Amino acid sequence: MKLAMIGGGGFRSPLVYQALLRDRGAGRVDEVALIDVDGSRLRTMARILTDQAEGVADAPRVSAHTDAQEGLRGADFVFSAIRVGGMQGRATDERIGLSHGVIGQETVGFGGISYALRTLPVVTALAHLIRRVAPDAWVINFTNPAGVVTEAMGRVLGERVIGICDSPVGLARRALGALGLADEGDVEVEYAGLNHLGWLTALRVRGVDRLPELLAAPKQIESFEEGRLFGAEWVHALGALPNEYLHYFSYRRDVLQADQIAAHSRGRYLLGQQESFWREAAAASRPYAVWEHCRHERESTYMSTNRDVARMGERAENDLSSGGYEDVAIALMRAIAYDQSARLILNVRGGGALAGLDPDAVVEVPCIVGADGPRPIEGARVPSFGAGLVSTVKYVEQQTIEAALSASRTAALRALAHHPLIDSVRVAHALFDDACASFPDLAYLR
Ligand code: G6P
Ligand code: MN
Repeated sequence: MKLAMIGGGGFRSPLVYQALLRDRGAGRVDEVALIDVDGSRLRTMARILTDQAEGVADAPRVSAHTDAQEGLRGADFVFSAIRVGGMQGRATDERIGLSHGVIGQETVGFGGISYALRTLPVVTALAHLIRRVAPDAWVINFTNPAGVVTEAMGRVLGERVIGICDSPVGLARRALGALGLADEGDVEVEYAGLNHLGWLTALRVRGVDRLPELLAAPKQIESFEEGRLFGAEWVHALGALPNEYLHYFSYRRDVLQADQIAAHSRGRYLLGQQESFWREAAAASRPYAVWEHCRHERESTYMSTNRDVARMGERAENDLSSGGYEDVAIALMRAIAYDQSARLILNVRGGGALAGLDPDAVVEVPCIVGADGPRPIEGARVPSFGAGLVSTVKYVEQQTIEAALSASRTAALRALAHHPLIDSVRVAHALFDDACASFPDLAYLR
C-alpha cells in the first residue's frame, strides 16, 4: 500500500511515520512518498525518517519528490498537510488581526479566513491533480482550516476527501481520563459541530452516558484542559464539553487582552523555533533526536495564549504521546482499506446529519467508516445555544470558498464582515486591505 504525503517536508511527518512503524498488520503501508515544494526541507525530512526507522525491520520505504505528479502516481492514500505562506504567514495574520483588535489565530476568525483565502486556490489545484493522477486514492486532509479546506477539495474530489482533526478525540480522551477511565473497549462519543467549533454531547461507556456525572463534578472538570479553559461552573451550565477552540469565542476579550501583552504570538514563537530546528536538523548526524526534542517543546507549549489566559502551565506529559492526529489518520486509513466499520469523528459532507445546515456542507461528526468511506451516524446534535453560531460560521466558510473559487472580493468581504469575531464592517474592510497588501498569494483578490 502506498501513501503519498503532500507537505511531507512538514514538521509533523515523523508522527505519521512513527504510527506507520508501529503498524505491524498485514497489508500495511510499505511505501511513503514525501512531496514538498521545499527541496531542502524535503531532504532533511527524508534523513529524519531514515534515522527514525533505524533498527526497525521492514520499515516502509521512503522517497522524496518536489514534483507532486511523480510522488502521487500509484498512491492508495494521500495525506495533505500544507501551509501556504509558511509559518511567516501565520505570524502575519496574528499581527494584522491584533493591530485591528481582533483575533488572528490560524483557524478562527480573521486568521482562519485569511489563511483559507491563501490556501484554497492551491488545494483546489492539488485536488484536480490528484483526480487526474491518482483517481482511486482516498485523500485525508489535515491542512487547516480543515473544515473549509475539506469542503473546497470535496467540490473536486467528492466524498474521496475526508478531513481530520485531533481535538475531538483528544477532548474525549481527557474527559474519560477525568472519570478515571481509559479510552479502550466499549466507548461511544457523541460530538457535533464544525471543525474547531463543536461540542461533546455524550460519553457512553458500555452503553451508559457518563457525561452528566462528569458535568456535575467540578474537581474532575477542572482536572483537564478544556474544563480549566471554560471553568467547571460554565461547562456545567452548557451541559456539554466545548472544543478548546471555542475559547476564542467565549473569552474573546480575555484572549485579546492576553495577546496584547504577550511577548510573542504562537506563530511568531513557532517561526523562531522552526528556523533553528531546520538548521540544526540539517547539520545533525542523528536528525531524529533533534526532531524529538523540538517536538516535545512545541507540544508542551501548545496553544500558549489560551493556556496563559487560563493559567494552565504545560500540557500533561501523558497527553503528549497518545492518540494525536496521526493515530486518527492511520485508524481512518485502516478502516477503509480493511472495511473495519470503525467509529471516528471526521469532517465529511453532512448530508443532513446536522439539522438546519446545507446537506453539502462539511461538518465534524461521528462516522462509521468502511471500505466505501465514512457515513455520518444519525443522532448528532449541536446544543441549542450553538446552532446559530454553527450556521453563521458555515455561511462564512462558504463565502470564503466562493471568494477563492470565483476570485470574488465581495464574497471575501461578506465572509469577514459576518464572522462573529469581527465586530465592524469597517474593520473587515481594513483587515482585508492589510491582508491583500501583505500576502502575494492574495493578489488574485485585489
Ligand atoms: C491542534 C489542532 C490542529 C492545529 C494544531 C496547532 O492539534 O487540532 O488543527 O494544527 O493544534 O498546533 P501548533 O503547534 O501548530 O500551534
Ligand atoms: Mn485541528
